[in-house]
Amino acid sequence: MSINLQVNVGGLVMKNPVTVGSGTFGYGQEYDQYFDVAQLGAVTVKSLSLKPRTGNKPPRLVETPAGMLNAIGLQNVGLDAYLRDKLPFLRQKGCTIIGNIYGHSMEEYMELAKRLEAEQGADAIEANLSCPNVHDARTARGCKLVAQSPERVKEYTQAIKTSTKLPVFIKLTPNVMDIVEPALAAEEGGADGISMINTLLGMGINPETRKPILSNIVGGLSGPAIRPIAVKMVWDVAKYVKIPIIGMGGICNADDAMQFILAGATAVAVGCYSFRQPDAASKVIQGLEEYCIRHEITDINKLIGAMMV
Ligand SMILES: Cc1cc2nc3c(=O)[nH]c(=O)nc-3n(C[C@H](O)[C@H](O)[C@H](O)COP(=O)(O)O)c2cc1C
Repeated sequence: MSINLQVNVGGLVMKNPVTVGSGTFGYGQEYDQYFDVAQLGAVTVKSLSLKPRTGNKPPRLVETPAGMLNAIGLQNVGLDAYLRDKLPFLRQKGCTIIGNIYGHSMEEYMELAKRLEAEQGADAIEANLSCPNVHDARTARGCKLVAQSPERVKEYTQAIKTSTKLPVFIKLTPNVMDIVEPALAAEEGGADGISMINTLLGMGINPETRKPILSNIVGGLSGPAIRPIAVKMVWDVAKYVKIPIIGMGGICNADDAMQFILAGATAVAVGCYSFRQPDAASKVIQGLEEYCIRHEITDINKLIGAMMV
């Protein structure tokens, strides 16, 4: 029985629906010793900024029950070093690349998208909009994130879309009252897809030392602990937006991935579980094919949003 696993995410053709969560897979090469990373539907690279970033001081990664808290602070090599040192490996392997970008202003996002396209650094752009919203007045409790303001999400999406012809995916934060609002704003701004979810805000305190467990105090929670929240959010968004969704949050195996697909995701990303099992994403691809065979489904696209109620 031949199975079609190919999906089209807003113009990005992926040979199977499986990618990896930005920031959990380096720039791909780090994992190639565990499996051929060209097997992936796409490699999503760590958020790229215009300038290199050293990130936050340690401790910046701690394990929690069924997950982990991180406050890496978007450490990355910067766009120039990515293009010079990381990209050739991915291109030589023939990988499909989702270039995740992070900027400090709308102009920086535009510049990142423009240069990634011009230098063939990516086949699609994923904009991580969990950056401070410096345009609006600060509240007493600090800056909101761009991804927390539907108006800003729409503006940033429109701006990025004018800078590139590549498919643009907007990565949403779950730290909002109603994730459908920023999702609709991204769609109105012309996004080709939605990536969701980023990490949920959390923190921990060591009662003995009375110190926070992360140097940054607050971090992002990921892993199996957030999966039910992520599946629900994908289901919510899929009901209202027409553009495709890349679903993520706690995916460890093909059954987890299937939950996202049945909830309405066109593609899925394996995130921090790759730290525990470096070839997890490869196993998910294999498992999705086995699922289709077991259920006599010849095309995985038929399963998108196919939850039975
Ligand atoms: C250590 C770590 C670093 C991350 N870095 C980024 C990043 O640079 N850009 C981004 O958009 N998301 C980043 N994320 C979020 C993941 O891509 C993903 O959205 C989130 O972890 C949920 O998936 P998971 O539960 O499977 O890990 C990071 C997550 C972790 C755990």
